[in-house]
Amino acid sequence: MINHEIKIAFQEYSSVDELGVTDQALCAEAVNAMVHSHSPYSKFKVGAALRLKSGKIIHGSNQENVAYPSGLCAERVALFYWGANHPDDSIETMAVTAYTDEFELQKPVTSCGSCLQVLAECEKMQNEQVKVILFVGKGPVWVANGIESFLPFLFFEDRLS
Ligand code: THU
Repeated sequence: MINHEIKIAFQEYSSVDELGVTDQALCAEAVNAMVHSHSPYSKFKVGAALRLKSGKIIHGSNQENVAYPSGLCAERVALFYWGANHPDDSIETMAVTAYTDEFELQKPVTSCGSCLQVLAECEKMQNEQVKVILFVGKGPVWVANGIESFLPFLFFEDRLS
């Protein structure tokens, strides 16, 4: 029997103000993206913003549905839009934020496993890692370079691609 240990790495900043100006601007875009969140059921808004190599910004927000499983997370709304429209303009950074009137968020919302798996596929498609910035109004900002930090056991099978 062998025991394996996996270490993940990410950086923590005390606020968005500590990030570089380009990343701060992308965080502001993620906040703007929440304007179009359709979340009448959870009342939990999520905004995602992608910055592409060309400088283009893509917004995504969670889109819920009365048939609950038909809804989709903000990250996948943005990532699938990228795949459908700008697959040749690689994603440099994704910023994700959330807000609810129901309670105070004090730490970043970490993307769900399905969104991480989709982001992993985007990294494979563009053959470059994506910087991920997670933040909310208050509390720390978490930054990771590449999806493997958040989903070390992501599914990938070369023979299926
Ligand atoms: N949600 C996201 O948009 N991204 C995530 O990574 C996790 C959760 C959304 C889905 C749903 O609309 C609401 O947050 C509550 O789960």
